Amino acid sequence: MKDLHVSSHSMVQHKLALMRSVTTEPKKFREVVREITGLLLYEATQDLDTNEIQVETPLAVTAARKLAQRIGFVPILRAGIGMVDAALDLIPTAQVWHIGLYRDHRTLLPVEYYNKLPVQPTVDLCLVLDPMLATAGSATATVKVLKDWGASRIKYVGLIAAPEGVERFHAEHPDVPIHVAAVDSHLNEHGYIVPGLGDAGDRQFGTN
Ligand code: PRP
Ligand code: URA
Repeated sequence: MKDLHVSSHSMVQHKLALMRSVTTEPKKFREVVREITGLLLYEATQDLDTNEIQVETPLAVTAARKLAQRIGFVPILRAGIGMVDAALDLIPTAQVWHIGLYRDHRTLLPVEYYNKLPVQPTVDLCLVLDPMLATAGSATATVKVLKDWGASRIKYVGLIAAPEGVERFHAEHPDVPIHVAAVDSHLNEHGYIVPGLGDAGDRQFGTN
């Protein structure tokens, strides 16, 4: 069974509409990327392992739970940068490992230009952050880098996916769940998601 989670949360869908709109300017777009990422990560982290601990409240000692795993966020540069602050708001103790990839506009293949992973894995769960899963070239390449590194558990969290990207990602990495706000209609001839939101990097950073 495909491990695909498309959020049906009303606030996720409300914020997605703001992001899709061509009239949303970069400042507002960045704010909404941050807000929607927090909601998607809240859902994607609902099954993280916790340990029982004892906590002393002002009234009594009680059982409580504490996150048991070391978490690593892996934003794919550049568009994934906009998702990092929300991720760290949710899990301030997480590590952040950047992977730099850009999609060659002619071939649509990912080109790696930055990788700052340490020699040995230092986390138990990697959450890959990238707004767009189009052909899935960037996401599948990143997950391969993480698996070659020794990552034992990986999840992908994005905003919008194309059906073609979901298909390819599941074929190459069936063990990695996908969490998104929407799966759109299709890719156009330039590899853009339709209806999508355009270029997620350009829309955040005011470039084109
Ligand atoms: C975008 C996006 C993904 C990639 C998705 O990045 O942020 O990384 O495209 O496309 P794919 O699924 O076909 O690989 P882009 O290459 O435009 O780089 P940028 O983030 O630097 O703008
Ligand atoms: N990258 C983007 O930023 N948008 C798309 O629609 C496809 C790839």
